[in-house]
Amino acid sequence: MKKKLISLALVMTMCIALLAGCGGSSSASSSASSAPAAEAAAEATDGDLATKKVGVCIYQFSDNFMTLFRNELERYLVEQGFSKDNITIVDGANDQATQSGQIDNFIADNVDVLIINLVNSSSAATVTDKVVAAGIPLVYINREPDADEQQRWADNNWNICYVGCDARQSGTFQGEIIGDLGLDAVDFNKNGKIDYIMIEGDPENIDAAYRTEFSVKALTDAGFEVNCLDDQVGMWDQVKGGELVANSLSQHGNEIEVVFCNNDAMALGALQAIQNAGRKVGTDIYLVGVDALTEVVEKVISGEITGTVFNNHFAQADGAADAAIRYLKGEGNEHNIQCDYTKVTAENAQEILDSLK
Ligand code: GAL
Repeated sequence: MKKKLISLALVMTMCIALLAGCGGSSSASSSASSAPAAEAAAEATDGDLATKKVGVCIYQFSDNFMTLFRNELERYLVEQGFSKDNITIVDGANDQATQSGQIDNFIADNVDVLIINLVNSSSAATVTDKVVAAGIPLVYINREPDADEQQRWADNNWNICYVGCDARQSGTFQGEIIGDLGLDAVDFNKNGKIDYIMIEGDPENIDAAYRTEFSVKALTDAGFEVNCLDDQVGMWDQVKGGELVANSLSQHGNEIEVVFCNNDAMALGALQAIQNAGRKVGTDIYLVGVDALTEVVEKVISGEITGTVFNNHFAQADGAADAAIRYLKGEGNEHNIQCDYTKVTAENAQEILDSLK
């Protein structure tokens, strides 16, 4: 019940955001539709969503966060009236060629709408072109195509949009979690600076680039001096993240005061490495992630992880499904639909954990 209420609240938030046209890197918006399939789609009503075919491409099933996302997406689509048999979700196995083949198959299968989490954001233009040519509306999720690409959707009045959160906000929240502790608490080596290491996700992904940049910017904006001891790419992966942090700890030892991870999976790996090195979060080092995976929120409560940022998969998945439904009803969408992240520290972690259940 609680989850239903939260989902409802999130959907309402998304609707308000949509109506207000808030956020987003694309200034353009359109509710008109020019794609060939739009007229047929316009005839859709709630009742016949059950007959509509939805194709969903996920960049990689083994990604923890995208697993939460896709499970919620399927649950919500069914709740809205789609038939589970008509929802096909495929694993791109982190390979763009594989995913492009899957998109071709969905087009050949005449799906009514596509929801795509690209493997490579840079492939957006190619994917958009073939999906538009097939007259299928498309909702991009999680990996945001660049501003030029989004401008094309607006200029051509295509039924294409992106639903997601602004990763700059998540990075800023990570930096603020550390900054709020104050220099005295963080500066263990008393050099007057915050000495950190950065473990990045996939550099192709704007989420990784923005979190890396804005976590540090939040600290410098607040007047802290920072010192980057190491910056490595962990590809969102727990094992790789753990290995990188272990290497860094053996190289820089006690000089490391903060470990920034672009996501929680890598923060879990980092925690293991920190514990193996005999260090203790909150006592001689700090650790932050992004996503608010249940396991991480529990560790924020127990003090083993300093904080994380809730990457709201409910709002993003439900928002993507709602956008798909609006296309099927011929209503159109803003081209960029945004939602908010939430900072998670020991203060509100229990509340966030309850909302995840
Ligand atoms: C991010 C998320 C990561 C990973 C990535 C995949 O938003 O924080 O954990 O899932 O998306 O693109």
